[in-house]
Amino acid sequence: MATEKMEESVKRFFVGKEKDLIQAKRKNITVGDRDLLIIYHQGMFYAMDQHCYHAGGSLLNGDIEEINSKHCIVCPKHKYKISLAQGECLYKASNPKDKTQPPRWYSKGIKQRVHNVTVLDGDIFVTLSEIPKWIESDYYQTENGKEELKKAQNEETATESNS
Ligand code: FES
Repeated sequence: MATEKMEESVKRFFVGKEKDLIQAKRKNITVGDRDLLIIYHQGMFYAMDQHCYHAGGSLLNGDIEEINSKHCIVCPKHKYKISLAQGECLYKASNPKDKTQPPRWYSKGIKQRVHNVTVLDGDIFVTLSEIPKWIESDYYQTENGKEELKKAQNEETATESNS
């Protein structure tokens, strides 16, 4: 659980030491009542909702790929690609009106809520996004979404213990 610090009227949550996060590269943490994933990748820190907007997959172990100059995490569950900086989902497709063109990348828009990361004197802080509109990953931060994730995890555990 992150600790809360108030600074300059901005609510920042301490999420770890810079050197520890650089070493770990990934960390799941609960901030307020939100489950987040903190990522260190190529000199930058990122924070986003921990569960993929599509069907709640954990992004913790997703590979990171560069697509159209954007660093994207690839959800291990169904391989959706989500940009680390904006939470935008990218997909590759052919133009149905011109099949002679090779497939290219398109955007589904912002689907995963991302949060602001600040580094202060070797400490990492997260400020939760306050964008008021609904972003699809918000669902897995609601009671219903968390309940659904819990059920899915219980089913997975039952399947594993039966095999
Ligand atoms: S749950 Fe992430 S791609 Fe489906």
